[in-house]
Amino acid sequence: MARVRVTRRVHFSAAHRLGREDWSQERNLRTFGECARTNWHGHNYELDVTVAGSVDPDLGFVMDLKDLKQLAEERVAAELDHRNLNVDVPWLGDLNPTTENLVVAIWRRLAGALPDGVTLERLVLWETPRNYVEFTGEGLE
Ligand code: NI
Repeated sequence: MARVRVTRRVHFSAAHRLGREDWSQERNLRTFGECARTNWHGHNYELDVTVAGSVDPDLGFVMDLKDLKQLAEERVAAELDHRNLNVDVPWLGDLNPTTENLVVAIWRRLAGALPDGVTLERLVLWETPRNYVEFTGEGLE
């Protein structure tokens, strides 16, 4: 049966501040640049969620896009939108909210929530229109 990838894009806007609490603010600014500024700032994130599976011969779907949309919106976008990623989101804990750390946390949140036979293939997380990270679950224990 043909195996096809399907992608849904969701959006969220969120505030953050990068840095390590055990470092001086000077060192954080040197390392993380403007994202280390003390009084927070925001980004308009875009997240592409790609799943894969066999095309159901009766439906012609890998999975219903409405369900994929709902999953990505409810489990990720709605939880992060207009939040402070450093303090407001329990499942991020005290993570330093770099785009890399975020994409791995989002992976963990989505991977187990898909229907049988459908796998999470790739996440692409855009922090700006010019910077994105991608993750395929590689190296995750
Ligand atoms: Ni930033």
